[in-house]
Order: sequence, then structure tokens, then C-alpha cells
Amino acid sequence: MTMLNFAIETAVEAGKLLLDKAGRKLDVSKKGDINLVTEADIASEKLIIERIKSYYPKHTILAEESGESAISDGDKLWKWIIDPLDGTTNFAHGYPCFAVTIALEYNGEIVIGVTYDPTRDEIFAAEKGSGATLNGKRISVSSTEKLADALIVTGFPYDFVKRDGIVENLLKLLFKARGVRRDGSAAIDMAYVACGRFDGFWEEGLNPWDVAAGFLLIKEAGGRVTHYDGSPFSIYKSPILATNGIIHEEMMQILNESKPQIPKSKAETRI
Ligand code: IPD
Ligand code: CA
Ligand code: CA
Repeated sequence: MTMLNFAIETAVEAGKLLLDKAGRKLDVSKKGDINLVTEADIASEKLIIERIKSYYPKHTILAEESGESAISDGDKLWKWIIDPLDGTTNFAHGYPCFAVTIALEYNGEIVIGVTYDPTRDEIFAAEKGSGATLNGKRISVSSTEKLADALIVTGFPYDFVKRDGIVENLLKLLFKARGVRRDGSAAIDMAYVACGRFDGFWEEGLNPWDVAAGFLLIKEAGGRVTHYDGSPFSIYKSPILATNGIIHEEMMQILNESKPQIPKSKAETRI
């Protein structure tokens, strides 16, 4: 089995486990004021880690709920980066927008990225240099040319109260784009940029496991991923700006403006 197929099979198995638990009464605990962890997060992560350990016992694993595995004699060149349930708040409320997302890093570069949405049975997959697919069919980013014609998406970190600028950035972009969404799963947001359903995505405070697969999906689908200042994207740093490439500069400029320029009426922005 290729590593890509291994990642796909693993994500699908974990996704089916999530679907099986969805809508049932589950143990839920809190990692922070509004940051939940359910027994589904834990069970999905266990399944994924067990599969990796049995197929690739020496590889390093970075998983949201368990941190980085300390495999002292292991091959640190290979690292699996896992979010076993992206969209936990949605999942816990029965809002059907959540995913399993798995990436493989080789020598510091993401070489495989898979995001599986079990609700819609959609497998987004990419391998470095080979393009990105949705259920096996090649995908590409949108060709939307202007922010005024764009549907964009964002998310808010759990510690948003401690951060400046989040609401300002939202306001600035809300006044310039055709529409702004907040769906609650960064992995799905990014997969949707890769297949052209969204034209752009921005968020700060994300972790490597939220963005690793999406980063490769978007790059392989022809899009662009950077930090807000346009510097090359590292999954270990925040914030993220991911677009179809065409509206990137426009979004970057707005994110770097200091204050929201709120027009008197939204219609004014279109003139
Ligand atoms: C969260 C989701 C959400 C994003 C948060 C993430 P989780 O991940 O991706 O869309 O806005 O910043 O932490 O906690 O559901 O795995
Ligand atoms: Ca996540
Ligand atoms: Ca998660």
C-alpha cells in the first residue's frame, strides 16, 4: 500500500468512527473555557496512532491530544501530523461540519495531506508534486479575480479574547468580500479553498495539525498559502492566509491595514 493510500484508509476509518459516535451521548471535558475534548476525539486519535504504529513503527507522530511522540531511536525524518477530529465544537453540538485530517512531513516538508469529511463522504487528498483530488478526481482552486466576487472563510481561536485585531480583520474583510463564512473546521475550510468552493481563508492561532494537510491540498491545487505579511508559510507559525492565489495580494493588503475602514453603507464599497 502506498503511503497516500495508507493515509486515506486511516482517515476514512477514523471518520467512520466519528460518524458512528455522532449524535450519541458522549463524555465531554474542557481543555479551556470554550475548548472541548470529547471521547470521540480520543477514540479517533487512538485508532490513527495505532495504525501508524503498526505500519510505520519508527515514524514520529504529532497528534493534537497526545503531543509529539518521543521515539528516541525513531526516524525523525518522517512525522505524521494528526487532528483526529477537527471541528470538535460542531461535533459536540450536532452541527455536521467536522473532519479527520492527517499529514505526513518528510525532512521538514509536507509530502502527503488527507482531509476526510465523513458527513459528506468526501476525501480530499494530495501528494507533493502529484496534484490534489476530491474522491479521486483532480481539483483546483477557483478562478475568482476580485475579493468583491469572493466567498471567503475564517475561524476564531479559542483564546480570541486575549488577541487583538481579530474582530477588526473580520470587519475589514466583511465589507469587501461577497460573503464571509465561519464553519468551525479549519481543515474543511482549507479543503474547500483547494477545490474552489471558497476563494480564501484566513485565521490566526492555528496549530500544525489544523493546517498541515490543507497547506499541501491548496498548494497542489494551484493556490497560495502564506502568513499575513506574505512570507513563506510554516505550519508551526501563525497566522495563515490561504487563497486561490489571485485574490491573495488584495486580502494581504487588507489584513495589513491598521484600522477597519468602515464605509457608511456596504454599497459604497462596490463603487
Ligand atoms: C478548531 C477548528 C476551528 C478553528 C479553531 C480550531 P478543533 O479545531 O479548526 O475551525 O477556528 O481555531 O482550533 O479544536 O475543533 O480541532
Ligand atoms: Ca483542529
Ligand atoms: Ca481537534
